[in-house]
Amino acid sequence: MTSAPNRPFITAKWAQTLDGRAAAADGSSQWITGAEARADVHRRRAAADAILVGTGTVLADDPSLTARTPAGELLVPSQEQPVPVVVGRREIPSGAKLLEHPRLGHPLGTSGTPVAEPIRLTGDDLAADLEHLKALGIHSVFVEGGPTIVSALIRAGLVDEVLVYVAPALLGGPRLALNDIGANSIADIRRLHVTETLQLGADLLIRATTVVPKEER
Ligand SMILES: NC(=O)c1ccc[n+]([C@@H]2O[C@H](COP(=O)([O-])OP(=O)(O)OC[C@H]3O[C@@H](n4cnc5c(N)ncnc54)[C@H](OP(=O)(O)O)[C@@H]3O)[C@@H](O)[C@H]2O)c1
Repeated sequence: MTSAPNRPFITAKWAQTLDGRAAAADGSSQWITGAEARADVHRRRAAADAILVGTGTVLADDPSLTARTPAGELLVPSQEQPVPVVVGRREIPSGAKLLEHPRLGHPLGTSGTPVAEPIRLTGDDLAADLEHLKALGIHSVFVEGGPTIVSALIRAGLVDEVLVYVAPALLGGPRLALNDIGANSIADIRRLHVTETLQLGADLLIRATTVVPKEER
């Protein structure tokens, strides 16, 4: 696993329909994929130092941002759960599930200082935000959406790997998995290098890196 040395390794994960939608027109997205795909997400979450979402996802989905078994038990102990990180300026509602995240209260990095609350970043300068996470001792970040923050990270060249869970389903409508990634012309297309494909129940996982070997460019 390699990334720019001044920031953590960034994995962006999303679930989408075959027609590239990440949510229905009303904003609901739980669940696009089935139980096996979701279990795979939780296993991969458990391996990350931090889990990051935008405020839009907190407000729409109220996610727990924990790595759990299908029965709802913690997949790894509290102190090994990924640290929750929220990007954006809107407030996290007082009853939000992630405020009860089991990782809170456990030390982070070498400082020994407990993480009191989810780490907040403004998103005004995403590169600087990620450098800040690295300085805190976070070496890998699992980005779980939504489309706006994932697109902004891709646009800024700050994503190392994508995990796309594709459900054999259609939603149509306006809520695409990505919006503006800065590719206005076909010459700007972001080619990826596929490193893994997996069938998970009815769904497919495609894992790909943003660094593409010369012969595939
Ligand atoms: N299918 C999936 O995998 C998946 C995953 C997650 C969410 N979703 C769905 O996605 C929808 C929410 O989407 P969303 O796009 O609103 O959520 P989002 O990407 O989580 O949040 C967007 C917000 O991030 C903040 N932000 C911080 N820095 C930013 C930057 N540099 N550029 C842009 N935004 C920045 C802004 O909030 P402030 O105004 O607070 O600054 C912005 O409104 C819901 O329907 C949810 O169900 C789907």
